Amino acid sequence: MSQTFDPSSSLVHFEPGMEHLEENEGGTVAGLEDTLRGIRETTFEHSGHAIRSVHAKSHGLLFGTLTVVDKLPPSLAHGLFAKVGSYKTIMRLSTLPGDILNDSVSTPRGLAFKVIGVQGDRLPGSEGDETQDFVMVNAPAFSAPTAQKFLGSLKTLAGTTDKYEGLKEVVSRFARGTEAVLEAFGGKSAIVVTMGGQAATHILGETFYSQTPFLYGPYVCKFALAPTSPGLKALTKKPIDVNGKPDALRESVIEHFGQEGGEWDLQVQLNTDLQAMPIEDASVPWPEDKSPYVTVARISAPVQNAWSAESKAAGDDGLSFGPWHGLAAHRPLGGVNRARNGTYANSAKFRGRHNGCPMHEPRGSEQIPD
Ligand code: HEM
Repeated sequence: MSQTFDPSSSLVHFEPGMEHLEENEGGTVAGLEDTLRGIRETTFEHSGHAIRSVHAKSHGLLFGTLTVVDKLPPSLAHGLFAKVGSYKTIMRLSTLPGDILNDSVSTPRGLAFKVIGVQGDRLPGSEGDETQDFVMVNAPAFSAPTAQKFLGSLKTLAGTTDKYEGLKEVVSRFARGTEAVLEAFGGKSAIVVTMGGQAATHILGETFYSQTPFLYGPYVCKFALAPTSPGLKALTKKPIDVNGKPDALRESVIEHFGQEGGEWDLQVQLNTDLQAMPIEDASVPWPEDKSPYVTVARISAPVQNAWSAESKAAGDDGLSFGPWHGLAAHRPLGGVNRARNGTYANSAKFRGRHNGCPMHEPRGSEQIPD
Protein backbone atom coordinates (compact mmCIF):
# COMPACT_ATOMS: atom_id res chain seq x y z
CA MET A 1 0.00 0.00 0.00
CA SER A 2 1.29 3.43 -0.87
CA GLN A 3 1.79 6.07 1.79
CA THR A 4 1.66 9.00 -0.63
CA PHE A 5 -1.49 10.87 -1.61
CA ASP A 6 -2.08 13.62 -4.09
CA PRO A 7 -4.58 16.00 -2.46
CA SER A 8 -5.20 17.66 -5.82
CA SER A 9 -6.86 14.49 -7.18
CA SER A 10 -10.62 14.91 -7.60
CA LEU A 11 -12.38 13.55 -4.54
CA VAL A 12 -15.99 12.41 -4.83
CA HIS A 13 -18.30 14.48 -2.59
CA PHE A 14 -21.06 12.26 -1.22
CA GLU A 15 -24.64 12.93 -2.24
CA PRO A 16 -27.67 10.88 -1.09
CA GLY A 17 -28.49 9.93 -4.72
CA MET A 18 -25.27 7.87 -4.83
CA GLU A 19 -26.93 5.11 -2.77
CA HIS A 20 -29.60 2.94 -4.42
CA LEU A 21 -31.95 0.52 -2.69
CA GLU A 22 -31.70 -3.03 -4.03
CA GLU A 23 -34.90 -4.69 -5.23
CA ASN A 24 -36.75 -6.25 -2.28
CA GLU A 25 -34.08 -5.14 0.15
CA GLY A 26 -36.47 -5.67 3.07
CA GLY A 27 -37.00 -9.28 2.01
CA THR A 28 -33.24 -9.85 1.79
CA VAL A 29 -32.68 -8.44 5.27
CA ALA A 30 -35.48 -10.66 6.61
CA GLY A 31 -33.76 -13.67 4.96
CA LEU A 32 -30.42 -12.69 6.50
CA GLU A 33 -32.08 -12.29 9.91
CA ASP A 34 -33.71 -15.74 9.66
CA THR A 35 -30.48 -17.40 8.59
CA LEU A 36 -28.33 -15.67 11.21
CA ARG A 37 -30.91 -16.46 13.91
CA GLY A 38 -30.87 -20.13 12.81
CA ILE A 39 -27.07 -20.27 13.17
CA ARG A 40 -26.99 -18.79 16.68
CA GLU A 41 -29.97 -20.80 17.92
CA THR A 42 -28.29 -24.01 16.74
CA THR A 43 -24.96 -23.28 18.42
CA PHE A 44 -26.77 -22.16 21.59
CA GLU A 45 -28.88 -25.31 21.67
CA HIS A 46 -25.76 -27.47 21.40
CA SER A 47 -23.45 -25.59 23.77
CA GLY A 48 -25.74 -23.72 26.18
CA HIS A 49 -23.73 -20.57 25.51
CA ALA A 50 -24.74 -17.84 23.06
CA ILE A 51 -22.07 -16.84 20.53
CA ARG A 52 -21.94 -14.56 17.50
CA SER A 53 -23.91 -15.68 14.42
CA VAL A 54 -20.71 -15.26 12.41
CA HIS A 55 -17.11 -14.57 13.50
CA ALA A 56 -17.82 -16.56 16.66
CA LYS A 57 -14.31 -17.71 17.52
CA SER A 58 -11.91 -15.14 18.92
CA HIS A 59 -8.15 -15.50 18.62
CA GLY A 60 -7.07 -12.50 20.63
CA LEU A 61 -8.43 -9.54 22.58
CA LEU A 62 -5.90 -6.73 22.62
CA PHE A 63 -5.81 -3.41 24.41
CA GLY A 64 -3.97 -0.55 22.73
CA THR A 65 -3.88 3.14 21.90
CA LEU A 66 -4.89 4.87 18.67
CA THR A 67 -3.16 8.14 17.84
CA VAL A 68 -4.43 10.36 15.03
CA VAL A 69 -1.65 11.50 12.69
CA ASP A 70 -0.53 15.08 13.32
CA LYS A 71 -1.07 17.72 10.60
CA LEU A 72 -3.31 15.74 8.26
CA PRO A 73 -4.19 17.71 5.10
CA PRO A 74 -7.73 19.22 5.16
CA SER A 75 -9.05 16.46 2.85
CA LEU A 76 -8.18 13.85 5.51
CA ALA A 77 -9.05 15.82 8.68
CA HIS A 78 -12.66 14.65 9.18
CA GLY A 79 -14.70 12.82 11.81
CA LEU A 80 -12.49 10.91 14.22
CA PHE A 81 -9.46 12.24 12.33
CA ALA A 82 -10.48 15.92 12.43
CA LYS A 83 -7.98 16.68 15.17
CA VAL A 84 -4.93 15.11 16.76
CA GLY A 85 -5.73 12.92 19.75
CA SER A 86 -5.03 9.60 21.46
CA TYR A 87 -7.72 7.10 22.41
CA LYS A 88 -7.82 3.72 24.12
CA THR A 89 -8.74 0.82 21.81
CA ILE A 90 -9.98 -2.75 22.21
CA MET A 91 -9.33 -5.13 19.33
CA ARG A 92 -10.90 -8.56 18.69
CA LEU A 93 -9.42 -11.04 16.20
CA SER A 94 -11.80 -13.67 14.83
CA THR A 95 -12.51 -16.17 12.05
CA LEU A 96 -15.67 -16.13 9.95
CA PRO A 97 -17.84 -19.14 10.85
CA GLY A 98 -20.62 -18.92 13.40
CA ASP A 99 -19.41 -21.99 15.23
CA ILE A 100 -16.20 -22.65 17.13
CA LEU A 101 -14.15 -24.75 14.73
CA ASN A 102 -10.78 -26.40 14.85
CA ASP A 103 -8.21 -23.99 13.33
CA SER A 104 -7.29 -26.59 10.72
CA VAL A 105 -10.51 -25.37 9.05
CA SER A 106 -8.89 -22.37 7.49
CA THR A 107 -11.39 -19.56 6.92
CA PRO A 108 -11.20 -15.77 6.39
CA ARG A 109 -10.04 -13.72 9.34
CA GLY A 110 -11.72 -10.75 10.97
CA LEU A 111 -10.52 -7.87 13.06
CA ALA A 112 -12.80 -5.47 14.88
CA PHE A 113 -11.76 -2.62 17.11
CA LYS A 114 -13.36 0.07 19.20
CA VAL A 115 -11.91 3.51 19.62
CA ILE A 116 -13.07 4.79 23.03
CA GLY A 117 -13.87 8.32 24.14
CA VAL A 118 -14.79 9.74 20.71
CA GLN A 119 -16.90 12.93 20.67
CA GLY A 120 -19.19 14.17 17.88
CA ASP A 121 -22.59 13.71 16.23
CA ARG A 122 -23.60 10.05 16.37
CA LEU A 123 -25.19 7.55 14.02
CA PRO A 124 -28.83 6.65 14.75
CA GLY A 125 -28.88 3.78 17.26
CA SER A 126 -25.55 4.66 18.85
CA GLU A 127 -26.57 7.98 20.40
CA GLY A 128 -25.14 8.44 23.86
CA ASP A 129 -22.12 6.19 23.20
CA GLU A 130 -18.54 7.39 22.88
CA THR A 131 -17.07 4.73 20.61
CA GLN A 132 -16.13 4.45 16.95
CA ASP A 133 -15.99 0.83 15.75
CA PHE A 134 -14.14 -0.55 12.75
CA VAL A 135 -15.06 -4.04 11.51
CA MET A 136 -12.74 -5.59 8.95
CA VAL A 137 -11.76 -8.79 7.11
CA ASN A 138 -8.43 -9.77 5.53
CA ALA A 139 -9.34 -9.08 1.87
CA PRO A 140 -9.89 -5.75 0.09
CA ALA A 141 -13.43 -6.58 -1.09
CA PHE A 142 -16.47 -8.51 0.17
CA SER A 143 -17.23 -12.01 -1.13
CA ALA A 144 -20.54 -10.84 -2.66
CA PRO A 145 -21.59 -7.69 -4.56
CA THR A 146 -24.89 -7.28 -2.71
CA ALA A 147 -26.64 -8.39 0.47
CA GLN A 148 -28.96 -10.54 -1.65
CA LYS A 149 -26.06 -12.46 -3.20
CA PHE A 150 -24.44 -12.81 0.24
CA LEU A 151 -27.64 -14.39 1.57
CA GLY A 152 -27.12 -17.31 -0.83
CA SER A 153 -23.65 -18.20 0.48
CA LEU A 154 -24.69 -17.52 4.09
CA LYS A 155 -27.49 -20.09 3.73
CA THR A 156 -24.96 -22.70 2.58
CA LEU A 157 -22.67 -21.87 5.49
CA ALA A 158 -25.64 -22.00 7.89
CA GLY A 159 -26.52 -25.48 6.67
CA THR A 160 -23.25 -26.79 8.11
CA THR A 161 -23.57 -25.14 11.55
CA ASP A 162 -22.43 -27.42 14.36
CA LYS A 163 -22.86 -30.45 12.15
CA TYR A 164 -20.18 -30.82 9.61
CA GLU A 165 -16.80 -29.77 10.87
CA GLY A 166 -15.52 -32.65 8.74
CA LEU A 167 -17.23 -31.25 5.67
CA LYS A 168 -15.95 -27.74 6.33
CA GLU A 169 -12.47 -29.09 6.78
CA VAL A 170 -12.65 -30.91 3.47
CA VAL A 171 -14.09 -27.86 1.70
CA SER A 172 -11.43 -25.68 3.24
CA ARG A 173 -8.59 -27.96 2.14
CA PHE A 174 -10.13 -28.37 -1.28
CA ALA A 175 -10.59 -24.62 -1.51
CA ARG A 176 -6.90 -23.90 -1.01
CA GLY A 177 -6.30 -25.67 -4.32
CA THR A 178 -9.49 -24.59 -6.03
CA GLU A 179 -9.04 -20.89 -5.39
CA ALA A 180 -5.84 -20.80 -7.42
CA VAL A 181 -7.69 -22.41 -10.32
CA LEU A 182 -10.61 -19.99 -10.03
CA GLU A 183 -8.30 -17.00 -9.87
CA ALA A 184 -6.51 -18.19 -12.98
CA PHE A 185 -9.88 -17.87 -14.72
CA GLY A 186 -10.40 -14.43 -13.26
CA GLY A 187 -13.15 -15.27 -10.77
CA LYS A 188 -13.68 -16.13 -7.14
CA SER A 189 -16.53 -18.33 -6.04
CA ALA A 190 -18.37 -16.77 -3.10
CA ILE A 191 -18.76 -20.14 -1.45
CA VAL A 192 -15.10 -21.05 -1.81
CA VAL A 193 -14.10 -17.69 -0.39
CA THR A 194 -16.60 -17.98 2.45
CA MET A 195 -15.72 -21.49 3.48
CA GLY A 196 -12.02 -21.61 2.88
CA GLY A 197 -9.35 -20.48 0.48
CA GLN A 198 -7.43 -19.09 3.42
CA ALA A 199 -3.83 -20.19 3.80
CA ALA A 200 -2.80 -21.34 7.30
CA THR A 201 -0.62 -18.33 8.07
CA HIS A 202 -0.08 -16.17 11.15
CA ILE A 203 -3.18 -13.98 11.72
CA LEU A 204 -1.09 -11.06 13.04
CA GLY A 205 0.64 -10.59 9.67
CA GLU A 206 -2.66 -9.83 7.90
CA THR A 207 -3.84 -6.52 6.50
CA PHE A 208 -7.55 -6.04 7.22
CA TYR A 209 -10.05 -4.03 5.16
CA SER A 210 -13.49 -2.53 5.75
CA GLN A 211 -14.44 -3.93 2.31
CA THR A 212 -17.54 -1.72 2.22
CA PRO A 213 -17.65 2.09 1.89
CA PHE A 214 -18.16 4.70 4.61
CA LEU A 215 -18.55 8.43 4.77
CA TYR A 216 -15.36 10.30 5.48
CA GLY A 217 -16.83 13.67 6.37
CA PRO A 218 -18.02 14.98 2.97
CA TYR A 219 -16.19 12.19 1.09
CA VAL A 220 -16.57 8.42 0.57
CA CYS A 221 -13.90 5.96 1.71
CA LYS A 222 -12.83 2.46 2.60
CA PHE A 223 -10.63 1.75 5.61
CA ALA A 224 -7.73 -0.66 6.13
CA LEU A 225 -5.47 -1.64 9.01
CA ALA A 226 -1.94 -2.74 8.06
CA PRO A 227 0.77 -4.09 10.36
CA THR A 228 3.78 -1.75 10.52
CA SER A 229 6.03 -2.80 13.41
CA PRO A 230 8.87 -5.06 12.19
CA GLY A 231 7.71 -7.87 14.51
CA LEU A 232 4.20 -7.92 12.98
CA LYS A 233 5.41 -7.42 9.41
CA ALA A 234 7.67 -10.46 9.79
CA LEU A 235 4.50 -12.52 10.38
CA THR A 236 2.92 -11.66 7.00
CA LYS A 237 2.32 -14.91 5.10
CA LYS A 238 4.29 -16.81 7.76
CA PRO A 239 2.94 -20.39 7.84
CA ILE A 240 1.75 -21.73 11.19
CA ASP A 241 1.28 -25.35 12.15
CA VAL A 242 -2.43 -26.06 12.59
CA ASN A 243 -2.19 -29.85 12.67
CA GLY A 244 -3.45 -31.25 15.96
CA LYS A 245 -3.70 -27.68 17.33
CA PRO A 246 -7.37 -26.67 17.49
CA ASP A 247 -6.46 -23.20 18.78
CA ALA A 248 -3.27 -22.62 16.80
CA LEU A 249 -4.20 -19.06 15.79
CA ARG A 250 -4.93 -17.93 19.35
CA GLU A 251 -1.78 -19.64 20.67
CA SER A 252 0.33 -17.80 18.09
CA VAL A 253 -1.25 -14.45 19.06
CA ILE A 254 -0.67 -15.11 22.79
CA GLU A 255 2.94 -16.09 22.05
CA HIS A 256 3.66 -12.92 20.08
CA PHE A 257 2.11 -10.48 22.55
CA GLY A 258 3.75 -12.29 25.46
CA GLN A 259 7.11 -11.22 24.05
CA GLU A 260 6.61 -7.98 22.16
CA GLY A 261 3.94 -5.42 21.26
CA GLY A 262 2.70 -4.44 17.82
CA GLU A 263 1.84 -1.44 15.69
CA TRP A 264 -0.58 -0.92 12.82
CA ASP A 265 -1.41 1.94 10.47
CA LEU A 266 -5.09 2.79 10.11
CA GLN A 267 -5.47 3.85 6.49
CA VAL A 268 -8.16 5.41 4.36
CA GLN A 269 -8.81 5.16 0.62
CA LEU A 270 -10.84 8.13 -0.60
CA ASN A 271 -13.18 7.63 -3.55
CA THR A 272 -12.06 9.51 -6.66
CA ASP A 273 -14.14 7.74 -9.31
CA LEU A 274 -17.63 6.31 -8.73
CA GLN A 275 -17.43 4.06 -11.79
CA ALA A 276 -14.22 2.32 -10.77
CA MET A 277 -15.00 2.56 -7.03
CA PRO A 278 -18.71 1.70 -6.73
CA ILE A 279 -20.73 2.23 -3.55
CA GLU A 280 -23.37 -0.44 -4.20
CA ASP A 281 -21.08 -3.31 -5.31
CA ALA A 282 -19.03 -4.42 -2.31
CA SER A 283 -17.19 -7.10 -4.29
CA VAL A 284 -15.10 -4.57 -6.26
CA PRO A 285 -11.67 -3.80 -4.79
CA TRP A 286 -11.15 -0.09 -5.33
CA PRO A 287 -8.07 0.37 -7.55
CA GLU A 288 -5.13 1.69 -5.54
CA ASP A 289 -3.62 3.34 -8.62
CA LYS A 290 -6.69 5.63 -8.70
CA SER A 291 -6.51 6.38 -4.98
CA PRO A 292 -3.96 4.84 -2.60
CA TYR A 293 -4.60 3.96 1.02
CA VAL A 294 -3.07 6.68 3.22
CA THR A 295 -2.33 6.56 6.91
CA VAL A 296 -4.55 8.67 9.16
CA ALA A 297 -3.84 7.08 12.57
CA ARG A 298 -1.60 4.53 14.26
CA ILE A 299 -2.52 1.85 16.77
CA SER A 300 0.02 0.49 19.16
CA ALA A 301 -0.56 -2.44 21.51
CA PRO A 302 1.99 -3.22 24.26
CA VAL A 303 3.15 -6.62 25.54
CA GLN A 304 0.11 -8.21 27.21
CA ASN A 305 -1.79 -11.41 27.78
CA ALA A 306 -3.66 -11.49 24.46
CA TRP A 307 -6.40 -13.88 25.59
CA SER A 308 -7.68 -15.19 28.92
CA ALA A 309 -10.92 -16.54 30.35
CA GLU A 310 -11.58 -13.09 31.85
CA SER A 311 -10.90 -11.12 28.70
CA LYS A 312 -12.96 -13.65 26.72
CA ALA A 313 -15.92 -13.10 29.06
CA ALA A 314 -15.55 -9.31 28.77
CA GLY A 315 -14.65 -9.06 25.07
CA ASP A 316 -16.51 -11.98 23.50
CA ASP A 317 -19.65 -12.00 25.62
CA GLY A 318 -19.81 -8.42 26.90
CA LEU A 319 -18.94 -6.43 23.78
CA SER A 320 -20.42 -6.01 20.35
CA PHE A 321 -18.56 -4.41 17.46
CA GLY A 322 -20.52 -3.09 14.51
CA PRO A 323 -20.23 -0.65 11.59
CA TRP A 324 -23.22 1.32 12.88
CA HIS A 325 -21.54 2.11 16.25
CA GLY A 326 -19.93 5.43 15.59
CA LEU A 327 -19.93 8.96 14.32
CA ALA A 328 -22.36 10.32 11.73
CA ALA A 329 -19.24 11.55 9.88
CA HIS A 330 -18.39 7.86 9.22
CA ARG A 331 -21.86 6.58 8.27
CA PRO A 332 -21.76 3.15 6.59
CA LEU A 333 -22.76 3.33 2.90
CA GLY A 334 -24.24 0.88 0.40
CA GLY A 335 -26.61 -2.08 0.55
CA VAL A 336 -24.30 -4.52 2.33
CA ASN A 337 -23.78 -1.99 5.11
CA ARG A 338 -27.50 -1.21 5.30
CA ALA A 339 -28.16 -4.92 5.84
CA ARG A 340 -25.68 -4.99 8.72
CA ASN A 341 -27.49 -2.41 10.84
CA GLY A 342 -30.18 -4.52 12.54
CA THR A 343 -28.47 -7.89 12.01
CA TYR A 344 -25.47 -7.05 14.24
CA ALA A 345 -27.73 -5.55 16.92
CA ASN A 346 -30.00 -8.63 16.97
CA SER A 347 -27.06 -11.06 17.21
CA ALA A 348 -25.63 -9.01 20.10
CA LYS A 349 -29.03 -8.84 21.87
CA PHE A 350 -29.38 -12.62 21.62
CA ARG A 351 -25.95 -13.08 23.23
CA GLY A 352 -26.76 -10.62 25.99
CA ARG A 353 -30.13 -12.19 26.73
CA HIS A 354 -28.97 -15.81 26.84
CA ASN A 355 -25.66 -15.27 28.62
CA GLY A 356 -27.19 -12.98 31.25
CA CYS A 357 -24.56 -10.40 30.36
CA PRO A 358 -25.92 -7.29 28.61
CA MET A 359 -23.68 -5.63 26.03
CA HIS A 360 -21.38 -3.06 27.49
CA GLU A 361 -20.24 -0.01 25.53
CA PRO A 362 -17.03 1.34 27.09
CA ARG A 363 -16.74 5.05 27.82
CA GLY A 364 -13.70 7.30 27.67
CA SER A 365 -13.59 7.90 31.38
CA GLU A 366 -13.48 4.19 32.17
CA GLN A 367 -10.39 2.37 33.31
CA ILE A 368 -9.49 -0.03 30.49
CA PRO A 369 -7.22 -2.82 31.75
CA ASP A 370 -3.72 -2.84 30.21
C1 HEM B 1 -24.80 -8.29 4.67
C2 HEM B 1 -23.57 -8.47 5.10
C3 HEM B 1 -23.22 -8.85 6.52
C4 HEM B 1 -23.99 -9.37 7.52
C5 HEM B 1 -25.47 -9.69 7.48
C6 HEM B 1 -23.14 -9.54 8.68
C7 HEM B 1 -23.58 -10.01 9.91
C8 HEM B 1 -22.80 -10.10 11.05
C9 HEM B 1 -23.28 -10.46 12.36
C10 HEM B 1 -24.72 -10.80 12.71
C11 HEM B 1 -22.23 -10.46 13.20
C12 HEM B 1 -22.21 -10.81 14.71
C13 HEM B 1 -22.50 -9.56 15.54
C14 HEM B 1 -22.48 -9.80 17.03
O1 HEM B 1 -23.02 -10.80 17.52
O2 HEM B 1 -21.93 -8.95 17.77
C15 HEM B 1 -21.06 -10.09 12.43
C16 HEM B 1 -19.80 -9.99 12.92
C17 HEM B 1 -18.71 -9.63 12.16
N1 HEM B 1 -18.69 -9.26 10.83
FE1 HEM B 1 -20.27 -9.16 9.62
N2 HEM B 1 -21.88 -9.14 8.35
C18 HEM B 1 -21.88 -8.70 7.05
C19 HEM B 1 -20.82 -8.16 6.35
C20 HEM B 1 -19.55 -8.03 6.84
C21 HEM B 1 -18.47 -7.36 6.19
C22 HEM B 1 -18.54 -6.64 4.85
C23 HEM B 1 -17.38 -7.46 7.03
C24 HEM B 1 -15.98 -6.91 6.91
C25 HEM B 1 -15.39 -6.32 6.07
C26 HEM B 1 -17.79 -8.18 8.20
C27 HEM B 1 -16.98 -8.51 9.26
C28 HEM B 1 -17.41 -8.98 10.47
C29 HEM B 1 -16.53 -9.18 11.62
C30 HEM B 1 -15.02 -8.98 11.66
C31 HEM B 1 -17.36 -9.57 12.67
C32 HEM B 1 -16.92 -9.88 14.10
C33 HEM B 1 -17.01 -8.62 14.93
C34 HEM B 1 -16.60 -8.88 16.37
O3 HEM B 1 -15.43 -9.22 16.59
O4 HEM B 1 -17.47 -8.74 17.26
N3 HEM B 1 -19.11 -8.49 8.07
N4 HEM B 1 -21.43 -9.88 11.12
